[in-house]
Amino acid sequence: MLSRLSPQAPDKIIGLMQAFRADPRPDKIDLGVGVYRDAAGATPVMRAVKAAEEQLWQSQQTKGYVAIEGDPEFLEAVRGLVLADAVAAERVAAIGTPGGTGAVRIALDLVRLANPAARVFLPDPSWPNHAAIVGHLGLEQVEYRYYDAALRGLDRDGMLADLGGAGPGDVVILHGCCHNPTGADLTAADWADVAAVLERTGALALVDLAYQGFGAGVEADAEGLRMLAARLPEMLVAVSGSKNFGLYRERVGAILAVAGDAATATLARGNLSNLNRQTYAFPPDHGARVVTGILTDAELRADWLAELDAMRTRMEGLRASLADTLREISGSDRFAYLAAQKGMFSLIGATPDQVAVMRDAHGVYVIGDGRMNVAGLSEANIPRVARAMLAAGL
Ligand code: LMR
Repeated sequence: MLSRLSPQAPDKIIGLMQAFRADPRPDKIDLGVGVYRDAAGATPVMRAVKAAEEQLWQSQQTKGYVAIEGDPEFLEAVRGLVLADAVAAERVAAIGTPGGTGAVRIALDLVRLANPAARVFLPDPSWPNHAAIVGHLGLEQVEYRYYDAALRGLDRDGMLADLGGAGPGDVVILHGCCHNPTGADLTAADWADVAAVLERTGALALVDLAYQGFGAGVEADAEGLRMLAARLPEMLVAVSGSKNFGLYRERVGAILAVAGDAATATLARGNLSNLNRQTYAFPPDHGARVVTGILTDAELRADWLAELDAMRTRMEGLRASLADTLREISGSDRFAYLAAQKGMFSLIGATPDQVAVMRDAHGVYVIGDGRMNVAGLSEANIPRVARAMLAAGL
């Protein structure tokens, strides 16, 4: 049986992680996988996480199973963080999942249960695992225009025109904030236009919210999806706690399914619970409990928000600093977009050959499509990164 399997290439992000690890050069620079790094290049455990873990260690008396949908207190805390009061709680079915990837996977599994013929509209470009999961589930995939590479920004008209081709029974994947990989986000007016298209077509929004707090702040980053939740009859949100709580390996995630009424929410919850049961039974609990500890304690929550704000501000500073350095060395303003974009990622417009030059000749790793993780920059490595970009012909 096993010999009948076909070899599987890792996706471009995982492949680059492996290549970076294998590179013996001590001064290599990792601007690949989306993890936050501080000035020393470390991905620290956040202060509030440490404190909540300590409290948990002191107080937790059992590691017995929790509920199949996850801990209700966690789900309520995540609902509040993401949706606030955009929609009545009784209309929301929530389940815990292993990370944001688990949330996307189970959400699309739910879509397939409801409508195996659903077409899934994906932004071009998108996080590579979106297309991989859609393909694995055997759902039809349709790309919609999203990014205008010449303008280094949103292709608003193309996006709205293509989304107009979705229909009832189809799903539209949207990035809640900090679009991965482009860094080009929707404005409030763009979100309103998307809501109008979804109202007209009847397609279901699936919002992937993996970076809440990394773009413009915890509240601002949720405004677009809250507006959708308030206007549309139904919606799915896939939530990740990997980045904004720094809990990558603990796999903290959730699905918030907004239904038209309480009875439909109950129906959705039952189906989601069933999918959890079949896939991994109980979702991971440790990280979820840490998040609950932070969100439900005023002091820990304030400290978490302060540290998250500092991380966001640091990324903004690094963006500005790289743009400034490139302006100084090149004498051109063509890199100004780096400072204007949001979140961890930007597409630097590098061809695969230029990416290879940056990597092989300069030890600077960006993803093959030219995605740069700006959180991997530091004041110390920015001059080298800028020179590598220019030497590669950017
Ligand atoms: C990324 O886009 O680099 C992160 O979301 C990590 C991942 O799982 O791909």
